[in-house]
Amino acid sequence: MTSYGKIYKLTKEGELGIVTFDVSAEGMNTWTREAIDEAGGLIEDLEKASDLKGVIFISGKPENFHAGANLNLLDEMKDPEDTAKAMGVFHTMFNRLEALPYPTVAAIHGHCLGGGLEFALACTARIAKESKTTLIGLPECSLGIFPGGGGTQRLPRLIGYGAIELILKGKMLPAAKAHSTGIVDLLVGPEGDLLKEAIRFTEKIAADPNTLQRKDQDFSQIDAVADMARQEVLKVTRGREIPGPMLAIKAIQEGAKVTLEEGLKIEKNLFVEAVLSNQAKGGIHIFFLKTMSDKPKNMMTKGFEPKPINKVGILGFGTMGRGIIIDILRNTQIPVVVKDVPQALEPGKTFVKKILEKLAEKKKLKAPVEDLMGRLTVTSEYGQELKEADLVVEAVFEDIKVKKEVYEELSQLVKEDCIIASNTSSIPLNAMAQYVSRPERFGGAHFFSPVWLMQLVEVIQGAETSRETVDNLLNFAALIRKRPIVCKDHPGFVVNAVLFPYFMKSLEFLEAGNTIENIDGAFTRFGLPVGPIRLMDEVGIDISYNVLKGKGMEQGTLKNVVGDGRMGFKKSGKGFFLEDGSVDPTVLPLISLKEKREISAEQMQTEVLTEMVKIGHALLEKGIVSDPRMIDIGMIWGTGFPADRGGPMKWADLIGLSDELFGKTFY
Ligand code: NAI
Repeated sequence: MTSYGKIYKLTKEGELGIVTFDVSAEGMNTWTREAIDEAGGLIEDLEKASDLKGVIFISGKPENFHAGANLNLLDEMKDPEDTAKAMGVFHTMFNRLEALPYPTVAAIHGHCLGGGLEFALACTARIAKESKTTLIGLPECSLGIFPGGGGTQRLPRLIGYGAIELILKGKMLPAAKAHSTGIVDLLVGPEGDLLKEAIRFTEKIAADPNTLQRKDQDFSQIDAVADMARQEVLKVTRGREIPGPMLAIKAIQEGAKVTLEEGLKIEKNLFVEAVLSNQAKGGIHIFFLKTMSDKPKNMMTKGFEPKPINKVGILGFGTMGRGIIIDILRNTQIPVVVKDVPQALEPGKTFVKKILEKLAEKKKLKAPVEDLMGRLTVTSEYGQELKEADLVVEAVFEDIKVKKEVYEELSQLVKEDCIIASNTSSIPLNAMAQYVSRPERFGGAHFFSPVWLMQLVEVIQGAETSRETVDNLLNFAALIRKRPIVCKDHPGFVVNAVLFPYFMKSLEFLEAGNTIENIDGAFTRFGLPVGPIRLMDEVGIDISYNVLKGKGMEQGTLKNVVGDGRMGFKKSGKGFFLEDGSVDPTVLPLISLKEKREISAEQMQTEVLTEMVKIGHALLEKGIVSDPRMIDIGMIWGTGFPADRGGPMKWADLIGLSDELFGKTFY
């Protein structure tokens, strides 16, 4: 028996070698420096092991085969030569594995992703055990990079054109699907013994290489297929050429026309280009942001024990109340009671049921709609039902007088330890705290509309809100599967504060004689889902007008537009746009033109980003947020800021703007 330090252990089973690997320092097996180094030593020994008839690679972790590249290592790559060298190490390692004089089999259970699958693809064959956690795929494109360890060459050669979609969409397939697409050669049932099956299978291949029926793929149509794939990608990115997927297509297309050896060289060079791009750095950053905010527990105080929530009360059965209820019903078992005026109850119920039915059609519910609706009680009284609530979310009219009335009545009714959260978007929490009897149990939970589609919630800590209340609101966010950020009380909290220049600067561009099409186009090309003028039109132009008025600013164009009865096409049938989506020419005379300044799309993007980043910087300086990640998470999941740019703060770092403005980076 030969031992390989910490990670790889080679044992013998008859004439077969069994390599068990476990990167014990990590939750999942990844290609850490140590893992790469040890693999080199292992392969050297395997090359010399002339007595072996075959080798099986199996993970020592119960739930994970191999999760691929270590993203910290990828993030550190800065220099093209060093990056090429690092990729060369992978290529050499996998080539040597592939060239071993006997069959090698990857025995997969749990995640087998990215560089983990590339390792398995360099083996002669793969067997996989069916389980909830077995997912097989190359998800790199979703991080702004692409599979650069042979994936763009070996996967198409194994399964043909189907590899293109798998790679571009970063699909992760369950074992059975991976088997039917040809990635996996043998499927082991959920109760099967993976190692035993792997031994039997490897012995079979060793005895008769024809066991594996590999065919030569026909790539005669690769140029046309690659062109189609490019068009598909551009449709998704709304015309933006993001390096990862675009270079992946190039690697597959060019690689399909040459030998594997030459294809791997092409892949390596293109990968260096992709991984050093700002989009790749942004994409990797998003992965880290996602990992952190996927589990709000990570943001709670260490050792915190959440208060059980056995009933939630909602005040207000309007747009937001309905949305919050939908998410509680579909994601938890918690009963909900909602209070509103009698005439609001039936329409609210009908709406909630309709959305739940739509979600059921899309198979997004775990229980029948009737069961979920059975947990909802509606009332127009402050009665026993509300009295039992452990948490009440207030979503009544945005009017301090109404809020005062509601809080005073509620405070008299609820249990002493009940947590109250306001969904206000603009009234300072600190102004409302005086109306509740226990301000330490009062905080903000600012959701985004439509709640069941928008992942973000801002958890707001007012001056008197206790840390325990913040932690309990984070726990509530986790229960209803929201992605939270935490901030202190501040006008617009985080997202609306940082988004503010998106509208203000755009109105300034408009009044400087730039067209609506050019302004909106500049930002959709940057990657935002909706341009600023269209967004105002969709949300309601009067809302933007009133927000500004509330800040003491009377915006000329908005005053004229709203004064003309144009609240937006959806709201009043008239706004900046016509039904077909084109600009309404009759709105143009209402623009309050100022001195002409023609601005390019890039300049508009830079000016808006600069203002956003200045606000983000101020939020950090004032301690409204403790961490730039809160701003980036908020903007990506609250506004659709393009994920591959990593959020405004990260993007400012990547393009050198942070340095230029503040002489330092945020990360
Ligand atoms: P909405 O006008 O759709 O609904 C408000 C509901 O509150 C109405 O059904 C009304 O009858 C009810 N209501 C009024 N007084 C009440 C009382 N005393 N007791 C119980 N119910 C009462 O308003 P929406 O849009 O749902 O907004 C609610 C809150 O959420 C506001 O504070 C708003 O600023 C905030 N918000 C709104 C967002 C949006 O996109 N609509 C986004 C984020 C926050």
